[in-house]
Amino acid sequence: MLTSAQQAEYQRDGFLVVPDFKGGAEIAALRARAERIVSQFDASASRAIFTTREQEKKTDDYFLASDNTIRCFFEEEAFGPDGLLKRDKALSINKIGHAMHDLDPVFRAFSSDPRLAAVARELGLAQAQVWQSMYIFKQPGIGGEVRWHQDATYFETTPISVTTFWFALEDATRDNGCLWAEPGGHRGPLRERFVRHGGQVRIDRLDTTPWPDDSTAVALEVKAGSLVCFHGLLPHYSAPNRSAVSRHAYTLHATDAGTAYSPHNWIQRDAAFPVRGFI
Ligand code: FE2
Repeated sequence: MLTSAQQAEYQRDGFLVVPDFKGGAEIAALRARAERIVSQFDASASRAIFTTREQEKKTDDYFLASDNTIRCFFEEEAFGPDGLLKRDKALSINKIGHAMHDLDPVFRAFSSDPRLAAVARELGLAQAQVWQSMYIFKQPGIGGEVRWHQDATYFETTPISVTTFWFALEDATRDNGCLWAEPGGHRGPLRERFVRHGGQVRIDRLDTTPWPDDSTAVALEVKAGSLVCFHGLLPHYSAPNRSAVSRHAYTLHATDAGTAYSPHNWIQRDAAFPVRGFI
């Protein structure tokens, strides 16, 4: 799938943009399915928001129980002071997570792609295992910031292998909150570890290396259909979306079966629901 130049670019920068990876029909099907999941979501059942600020304090049972199922999370700014949604539910959801790739037929079809399996192999995952899927809405006006982090914080293996597959379902621009990343930053240390013990989570600070800033970070502005692959140690971030347009994206996180998956990662599988690859 990838040329040797693309593979070298990934090794050098810690990320790679593959334009036109997914076609319009596949994207339309995924978007329609996400819309349906949200329309069927009972907004009165939960007021759970997703935020990357004070994540230890704000992670609740609703979040932890979404590890191997399908749940919707609100944008932090979705509610007014009266505790009610400020606008329509469909424009209030931050994300859907975290096992649609295995549990939902439309998401499964999108995620089970021999070309993805090939890309994963070419990026160094000898046998990919896909632990998590997220549909991210980045809603117009209120799309939440995702603070600087490394995805290996959430999916630790020894050695580190987690690789992110990020699909732009709409054009991602500086205006609507595209990804920002630090080229070459994947050669730095793992700064934090998100640890789960039963119903409790905590973030261990492992390294005090500062997060990047505007002087070294680059904006990953990509067209709908693009696939962005990035290394688990790559620092990345996305700004709030204050524009009038959404920035939908879909992500998959995979590790290599040949590495040791930490028993403290927040998502675990067992024989009843085994982790699978891209095909
Ligand atoms: Fe991330």
